[in-house]
Amino acid sequence: MDRILVIGAAGQIGSDLVTGLRKIHGAANVYATDIKPASIDIVEGGPFQILDVMDDKQLIHFIIRHKITQIYHLAAVLSGNAEKLPVQAWDINMRSLLNVLEIAKMVDDVKKVFWPSSIAVFGPTTSRVHTPQLTVMEPITVYGISKLAGERWCDYYFNKFGVDVRSIRYPGLISYKTEAGGGTTDYSVEIFYEAIRNQSYECFLSENTALPMLFMPDAIRATIDLMEADREKLTINSAYNLGGFSVTPKKLYQEIQAHIPDFKIQYNPDFRQAIADSWPQSIDDSIAKRDWGCRYDYDLKKMTVEMLREIGKKWD
Ligand code: SER
Repeated sequence: MDRILVIGAAGQIGSDLVTGLRKIHGAANVYATDIKPASIDIVEGGPFQILDVMDDKQLIHFIIRHKITQIYHLAAVLSGNAEKLPVQAWDINMRSLLNVLEIAKMVDDVKKVFWPSSIAVFGPTTSRVHTPQLTVMEPITVYGISKLAGERWCDYYFNKFGVDVRSIRYPGLISYKTEAGGGTTDYSVEIFYEAIRNQSYECFLSENTALPMLFMPDAIRATIDLMEADREKLTINSAYNLGGFSVTPKKLYQEIQAHIPDFKIQYNPDFRQAIADSWPQSIDDSIAKRDWGCRYDYDLKKMTVEMLREIGKKWD
């Protein structure tokens, strides 16, 4: 029986992942933790504790006391916020990962680690359409540099110490439970809230900025499928490319407008435009499909219907 620790359970991925893991492994076996309080369903749906991943002593005590066998380490400073405090963001993103990898190396009970990477590992010198798994990687953001270095550390701990660490380069993640914070792809979530609340949205990216996106239910299924895959089938020890669907602010606007005819948009690009322009427009995820059967249920249309329905309920 697995006993699972989720670090960053109050965040955009964590709040959906904890629910998914509790359904599979039993609520009592999934320990949700964060440095800030989580939503009611996370706190009341199973064990929840305030825990700081930067405090390696507290972390190792927690892991030993609860006989943790799998760690999902999701806490990070996202791309936009990291540009405002580069050194602190580097410190948080790298130190936290190294704390987790060191503990996984030392504590025998810990069998697997999941850590999210991102399309931010790519940069302006990468070919931006159907970006392959193995290619030129020269990220220009602190977040991207920390994710690329993190991937190298994961590969290193696997090869050198046998730590079974698995990772995905997530595209932009669209979800309705918890909003992201400080990311470049966040417009794709904000636009739904503003469409429903105000019928108007000022977008911080220009209308034709194409980025790959993934709806959260597909991201959660992919994450759990990767963690449950036979290790022998995995050929990537750093992080798997994941594609989802490619979308621009204009296409997403038009899709929402088909449901909310009065919805208006203005484009007012800020510093995040340069970040988006350095990231892929679409991703080749054939290796994830081959190695562990990655697949998606949602495209732009289906995702939009579900986002409008679920966010609409919050204002009923
Ligand atoms: N969605 C993240 C961001 O925009 C990238 O992984 O920062």
